[in-house]
Amino acid sequence: MARILVTGGTGYIGSHTVVELMQQGYDVTIVDNLSNSSVDVLDGISAIVGRRPEFANIDCNDYVSMEAVFKQYPDIVGVIHFAASKAVGESVEKPLMYYRNNLGSLITLLEVMRRYHVYNIVFSSSCTVYGQPDKDHLPVDETAPIQKALSPYGNTKQINEDIIYDEAHADSSLHATILRYFNPIGAHPSALIGELPNGVPNNLLPFVTQTAAGLRAELKVFGDDYNTPDGSCIRDYIYVVDLAKAHVKAVERMLAGTPTEQVEVFNLGTGRGLSVLEIVRDFVEATGVNVPYQIVGRREGDIEKVWANPKKANEVLGWKADTPVKDVLVSAWNWEKHLRNIQ
Ligand code: UD1
Repeated sequence: MARILVTGGTGYIGSHTVVELMQQGYDVTIVDNLSNSSVDVLDGISAIVGRRPEFANIDCNDYVSMEAVFKQYPDIVGVIHFAASKAVGESVEKPLMYYRNNLGSLITLLEVMRRYHVYNIVFSSSCTVYGQPDKDHLPVDETAPIQKALSPYGNTKQINEDIIYDEAHADSSLHATILRYFNPIGAHPSALIGELPNGVPNNLLPFVTQTAAGLRAELKVFGDDYNTPDGSCIRDYIYVVDLAKAHVKAVERMLAGTPTEQVEVFNLGTGRGLSVLEIVRDFVEATGVNVPYQIVGRREGDIEKVWANPKKANEVLGWKADTPVKDVLVSAWNWEKHLRNIQ
């Protein structure tokens, strides 16, 4: 069976994707430097799938070590590149670290792939490349204009997309699928893998579940004076397992030789926008657990409203994110309970 190299495969989206790949029969080698994940994630993956992925504790910027992986696994037929630093605020404080990590790892990977004749790559991008779309581009499809990034993190996603286009132009063998994620949430239904935020969570859902678990006194809702029905920001929250399945579809499409363009781009979202207050309300309704919250001022750099038009992914990839949001919120809560030993 074909082997897929998954960089960042012990991370949040990476680990869920490894599970889906292995359940479809792929062999998987994970490369991860564990800078923002735990080696224990491998136990969770193995418990779900019934076999263990190969793992190398390597930094993707390390050409020599990456080369050794391609030498060791000559059956690699494609790469899914998740490995990246992803905290927006940290990227503002440490831009050089973000440019070095996120650009260097992709460049190294593409160099080694070319050397070892591996020509399929799936790249983790983000809806952050669209910034705040104007009203004519909501919901956002793939033709919406890219806007100047608001953070070094966002800029690394844009530059990495450009790097992929330029390399594909230079090497006609290379095929790439760029997946622009909206807001991934939830955890595997087994509650054996999920999101593991480092310190105080920046993202909404981990903050909600930690507040529900009593670790945080209250959720701060960043602003209720936006131009939205209830005044709080709107996002397209997508179940991480649905998102993971899109990667398998993308890999299958490339291995089958179906892509019509050398670089294909897909927006991965549900097509439905939910406000912060709707998420809180749905969470309380779905779990029966209270989440105290307080409205505070806006968070700098926040986008008012953005949600996906996922038609292209639905039709071309044959994929749809259709898990009901309340089921997703329950999965996030079950994972938090698993982490905290709450019955
Ligand atoms: C953020 C990043 C985005 C990145 C994504 C990764 C910004 C501006 N954007 O997206 O580039 O790709 O994370 O997952 O940082 N909220 C609260 N209280 C909280 C936390 C969040 O009200 O404690 C609100 C936010 O204001 C926002 C929504 O919840 O309206 C979602 O926030 P978050 O989970 O941080 O995601 P994004 O801001 O969409």
